[in-house]
Amino acid sequence: MTEAAEQVTEPDIDLTGANAILDKYVDMHGALMPALQEIQEFYGYIPESTVHLTAERLNVYTSQIYGVLTFYAQFHLQPRGKYIVRVCMGTACHVKGAGRIADTIKDRLGVGHAETTDDLKFTAEYVACIGACGMAPVIMVNDGTYGSLTVQKVDEVIEKYQAME
Ligand code: FES
Repeated sequence: MTEAAEQVTEPDIDLTGANAILDKYVDMHGALMPALQEIQEFYGYIPESTVHLTAERLNVYTSQIYGVLTFYAQFHLQPRGKYIVRVCMGTACHVKGAGRIADTIKDRLGVGHAETTDDLKFTAEYVACIGACGMAPVIMVNDGTYGSLTVQKVDEVIEKYQAME
């Protein structure tokens, strides 16, 4: 499949929130980063239509905005899940079966690295060492850390978050 064929059409985005945010930054020096951060906070990601709106309102090129968005890992151009499941793929976790943990999550939620469930509840991300090697293999779900994982324990963690709103 070509890249163009994979592109998802953006749903209609209500730009009222973005306009209110940008109102504060018009004619302000160095406004682009904080404006984009606020827009992401408001929508949960940076919708494409807000990129064009930001370019127009702050009088910058869209290419400049995409440059910032792709350079800084904090920005996301696609909607993300309410729960971000980070699977550590660092050396210690790899040795202790991180691959099996990732496979289990993919099997249960249907998402691999950088993928989000259709209901926008979960996004999976495979990450480098998260500094809890003594508890390998480890995953994080938002701010919660779960270590010494087995397939059964992963199931319990997933079920816990599935049961939450
Ligand atoms: S390698 Fe996974 S926490 Fe360090």
